[in-house]
Amino acid sequence: MAKDKTQYTCSECGGNSPKWLGKCPHCNAWNTLIESVAESTATAKNRFASLAKTAEVTTLADIDATDVQRTPTGHDELDRVLGGGIVEGGVVLIGGDPGIGKSTLLLQALDSLQRAGMSDAGPPQGTKAPSGGSGPRAAGQRGGLSGTLYVTGEESGAQVALRSRRLGLDGSQVSVLAEIQLEKILATLDHVKPAIAVIDSIQTVYSEQLTSAPGSVAQVRECAAHLTRAAKASGTAIVLVGHVTKEGALAGPRVLEHMVDTVLYFEGDTHSSFRLIRAIKNRFGAVNEIGVFAMTEKGLKGVSNPSAIFLSQHSEPVPGSCVMVTLEGTRPMLVEIQALVDSGGPSPRRLSVGLDRDRLAMLLAVLHRHAGVACMDQDVFVNAVGGVRISEPAADLAVMLAITSSLRGKALPKGFIAFGEVGLAGEVRPAPRGQERLKEAAKLGFSVAVVPKANAPKKNDKAFEGLTIHPVERIEEAMNLVRSL
Ligand SMILES: Nc1ncnc2c1ncn2[C@@H]1O[C@H](COP(=O)(O)OP(=O)(O)OP(=O)(O)O)[C@@H](O)[C@H]1O
Ligand SMILES: [Mg+2]
Repeated sequence: MAKDKTQYTCSECGGNSPKWLGKCPHCNAWNTLIESVAESTATAKNRFASLAKTAEVTTLADIDATDVQRTPTGHDELDRVLGGGIVEGGVVLIGGDPGIGKSTLLLQALDSLQRAGMSDAGPPQGTKAPSGGSGPRAAGQRGGLSGTLYVTGEESGAQVALRSRRLGLDGSQVSVLAEIQLEKILATLDHVKPAIAVIDSIQTVYSEQLTSAPGSVAQVRECAAHLTRAAKASGTAIVLVGHVTKEGALAGPRVLEHMVDTVLYFEGDTHSSFRLIRAIKNRFGAVNEIGVFAMTEKGLKGVSNPSAIFLSQHSEPVPGSCVMVTLEGTRPMLVEIQALVDSGGPSPRRLSVGLDRDRLAMLLAVLHRHAGVACMDQDVFVNAVGGVRISEPAADLAVMLAITSSLRGKALPKGFIAFGEVGLAGEVRPAPRGQERLKEAAKLGFSVAVVPKANAPKKNDKAFEGLTIHPVERIEEAMNLVRSL
């Protein structure tokens, strides 16, 4: 029946409703229901049926569990977020702001995989195995998959070629397909049998089965499901490039993130040259690991020692600046937090870049209540330098010290760092792996640290040499201490 053919799908949660509603009945988001083509229960069941192959019931002990084979991409920082490399049949979703470098990085990765001879069908094309990994697989293991395929829907083949020349990838043997129709892409994947394929981007791909426009919820979901199924069935690793919404979340239905094995996110300020890739979800490795890159004329280059890149270089300390040590994944990094407190109008503004705005409001309340620092009639702006996004609460103490420093117009001492979570009762709580953070600060020549008491080292360690550590338990204690330094 004609009236059964359309339904309304929420772009936030993917929930369905037979008629249009202003508010999604599933996740309560407003204005998110979008018309899409209803699929029969049979097709919907079919969609996931082949994601996991059915097998006999066995005990875990009897299953032969060899660790997944990973092929390093040749870019250490990318491998770090992937958990070691590309996994056979694995599906990776990579999102990020426009122009941040998604296509650039993937083209570079495909090229180095191609050059390393990502093949098992015959002798590897390159003589050199990819660095630091297992190298190309033994014959037969990948069912004759070989080579790399770049499916471009956003740019023409010529544009991709132009980019590859600019990146210095002369003579690149990466196969390129300019196509946006899912059925044709699937047929090509089946025919070419690449070991890894990049789909740039999933929002441009459309299936003939659906009448809705490319990029719509139904199309994105359907195409991603088909491609995921193809990856699992053939063993081809697929990387999907995803657009992000204005809010910075991956565009498309939430189910997209559940469908894939790994979700990576590009972060960073397009105006600075540094880019971060964060793993949001990874079925084959640790999450919250980050990879750091620098955008250069020749594309993205990994930054293996990123601890000091998010510091702005002041020759003398300036008011409103406080350095913190953040620990993302396995590496501590020093990030400068800047605050500007300025007299505001009747409704003062609170703005934060790279930090959570609600948390800023909370910290201002704690500052007022427990340390007697009032910013009620002031505009407060805070910023994490370099476009880095800090989600961990260990930034609290540094944010509060930067705000107080700006309010008083008095700079913090030279070589000063602080970190620690601040609770609503004004207590300073320890940050995870505090000692590692302190060691990194000492290594980079910082001399004064204000840290939560539980993070202060118990015994004298050579690693902290040159760093005077002041343990604090409460926010007022930290404020008094800083004033006396
Ligand atoms: N000639 C150049 N020299 C240096 N950097 C360049 C040059 N041309 C482009 N870039 C960099 O490459 C970036 C574009 O990267 P890329 O096309 O990979 O982004 P993207 O994430 O794929 O974007 P989109 O979402 O639009 O596809 C630009 O923002 C710029 O920083
Ligand atoms: Mg692109």
